[in-house]
This record gives sequence, C-alpha cells and structure tokens, in this order.
Amino acid sequence: MQAAATERLIQPARNVQGSLRLPGDKSISHRYALLGGLAEGTTRLSNFSTGADCASSLACVEALGAQVRRDGTSVDITGVTGHFRPSASPLDCGNSGSTMRMISGLLAAQSGTFTLIGDPSLSRRPMERIRKPLAAMGAHLDLTDGHAPIAIHGAPLTAIDYTTPIPSAQVKTSLLFAGLQADGTTTVREAVRTRDHGELALRAFGAHVDRTKDSVSIAGGQQLRAIEAAVPGDLSSAAFFLCAAALFPGSNLIFDELGLNPTRATLLDVLTALGAHIGVLNLETKNDELIGTVQVNAPPAGLIGTAISGALSAQLIDELPVLAAIGPYTQNGIRIRDAQELRVKESDRIALVAANLRAMGAEVEEFEDGLDVPGGQMLHGATIDAGGDHRIAMAFSIAALRAEGDTLIRGAESAAISFPEFFDLLDRVAER
Ligand code: S3P
Repeated sequence: MQAAATERLIQPARNVQGSLRLPGDKSISHRYALLGGLAEGTTRLSNFSTGADCASSLACVEALGAQVRRDGTSVDITGVTGHFRPSASPLDCGNSGSTMRMISGLLAAQSGTFTLIGDPSLSRRPMERIRKPLAAMGAHLDLTDGHAPIAIHGAPLTAIDYTTPIPSAQVKTSLLFAGLQADGTTTVREAVRTRDHGELALRAFGAHVDRTKDSVSIAGGQQLRAIEAAVPGDLSSAAFFLCAAALFPGSNLIFDELGLNPTRATLLDVLTALGAHIGVLNLETKNDELIGTVQVNAPPAGLIGTAISGALSAQLIDELPVLAAIGPYTQNGIRIRDAQELRVKESDRIALVAANLRAMGAEVEEFEDGLDVPGGQMLHGATIDAGGDHRIAMAFSIAALRAEGDTLIRGAESAAISFPEFFDLLDRVAER
C-alpha cells in the first residue's frame, strides 16, 4: 500500500546531542526473515527493522506458507522446512530491491511458478543481474523488459562458479540462497567485498559457508534450523545522525547496540578522515555480527573534505547521498566517483542529489558515476523533492540543519521505507 504523500518542514539546528538506540538493521532483518521463512522451526527475532521494506519480506514468506506473528519489533516466523507453497496471488515486494532479488534466489529452486511484483520505482530497477546467473543454474525467470514483474519457474538447480560483474550484496546473497538448494557447491566471486550479512545469516541458521578473501562458497542440500536473534541497530540509518552530529562543533551523539559489521562500517572511517571524533566501545558479537556503542563528536574547526572512489564507493553505497548532502559544509568538499550504481537505486540518486543541492543554492558538478560537491558553501532553505526515495528525504533533512532558513521536504513519507522513526528522532536530538 502506498503511504499518503506528506511534507516535513525542517528548521536549522544549533547543535545535535543525545543518545539513540536504533531499530534493527534492514539488510540483516531481510535475511533473517527470508531464511526464517525457509528454515525448520520457529525463528524468534527482536529489534526487527521497522521499515516497510522488511515488512515486504515478511509478507512474502507468509504468502509462501510460513507463519508470521509480529508484535512491534518482535517477530516469530515458523518456517516451511525447505518447501515453499506457491502463492495464488503475486508476491508484492513493494519498494524493496533486496526482497525481490534475494527471494528470487530462494524461489529459483522451488517447484512451481512464482510471480514477483513491485511498486513503480522497483519496477524500473535492473533484474537481469539475477536472471542471468539463476538461469545458468537451471531456473527459468521471465522478466518484463529487464525488470519486474518477474515470473520464476523453479527447477532443480546445478551449482555454478560466478563472478559478479557489478559488486552487489543482493546478487551475491541471491546466488548463495539458490546455491543452498543446488546440486554441488556454488561459488560467488566478487572484486569488492560487499556486505556479508548473507553469509553470516546462513551460518547462523546452521549452514556451512566457506570464504576466501574474494569468494564465498556454499554446498547444496543443507537444511536450515530456526534461530533466536536480536537484530543490531541499523548503521545506515545511524549514518544520517552521525553526519548531522559531525556538522556541529560541540555536538555529542551516542548510539547503543549499533551494528558494526566491518563490511558496513566504512562510514566511520570516512567521518574520521573528515576530522570527526568517533569512539567505539562495548564491542560484542551476536550471531557473528559485530555490535557496539558509537560516540561521535564534531571537530571544533569543521569537517575537512574527502574523495571517495573505487571499492569505497561500493562499500558506502547507501551512505553516499548523505555524505554528498553535507559536502558543501566541509572545507574542501566531497568528491565521489565509481558510484554509477547510485543511478539505479530507488531513484537516480546522483541526479536527485545534484538537483536538490542546487535547489539549496549549492554549486555541484554531476558525472555519470558521481559528483563533485565543492566545500566552503553556505546553503539556504528550499523545497526538496525526495523523488519517493527514503535516503534522499533523510539526506536533505540533514543538509537542512545547517542551512539558512527552513527547508520543506516533499515526499517525507518515503523515510518509512527504511526508518519510520527518523523525523521524531531528528526532533529529539536537534537543538533549535
Ligand atoms: C543491500 C545491498 C545494497 C544496498 C541495499 C541493501 C543488501 O544493494 O544498496 O540498500 O541488503 O544486500 P546492492 O547489493 O544492489 O548494491
């Protein structure tokens, strides 16, 4: 269901302070929901993501025969012990590329035909990247001009050895999920190590997964067992507040029980390179996922500026919009390259970041694979078009905190795709 369009007025802030415990990580919640749906037994999850995207994953496994009971952020999933039931109606993945791509890997090996649909944004996103390797394993996927709707004709699968042409954790995970049910050992190789929550989740559910520096392998025919898990706080949601705090000398923001998986935590290195002070304490590991407390303080003399390219761009892909949005407030600007994937996310994030920065009075240069955002600029409040994209709505709410005058975010409801609490928490930590 499409949320009603809403607008949010963001007033400039004087400082950012407080302590936050964030809802569960979106990437981990998706994987636990999908694997819990397939496993034997009842998976009990706490601090499950509150975003609409992960609700789409839960709804899909429920439509496929799993039993789902949800009470706020506590979710119990009784799985189908390896055999999904074909659903009479299409499986609606909503806005969620993760749901669509990863569930395709699970369904490719199941008997029956499954139809996947999504909202207009998801229906524009490229799906050939999963069709090709899943077809090489023996499944048959009918795309609609390279996109959803997708009809998956499941079949017995044969393992493959596949190198992903574009670094993508969604594609890697989809293939590992298919490989779990294939004949033989499936290997996925990647030039850049993308987030490894798929590998860690498979292990948590009892599967054996082998890793080398640049490959992951899984033998087919393994059965999954239900787990009990608390989902770590979402670092990509924290990113907006980390960047906000980095903008205000005198700021102090603390996050408890935040997911700190090293394949996700590159933002902390970038903020350190920008001059922010980042403290990490209380580290522990749960279901192989690193969790800890993070404290951020802004540098008294302001942020320096940095260039992001190559592997860093792939590892920071979800954090690039907010980094670009605070670029004008740095001394030397933010330069981003090798990030062409931003153009095929929930929106064309390069074009929307450039357009919205210009609306706030910034000078910015757009490239096919990135942006140059010069530093030392003062922005003014403006009307922002979030383009239905949660990360654009939130990134420009952060840019608005240091602007002169108020900023109106159009399409603010899209924040609920990953982070429904965003605006309330922003009001809590932003001092006006
Ligand atoms: C995700 C992987 C990334 C990311 C997305 C979530 C995941 O996409 O942008 O928000 O959970 O695996 P790609 O794998 O397509 O780069």
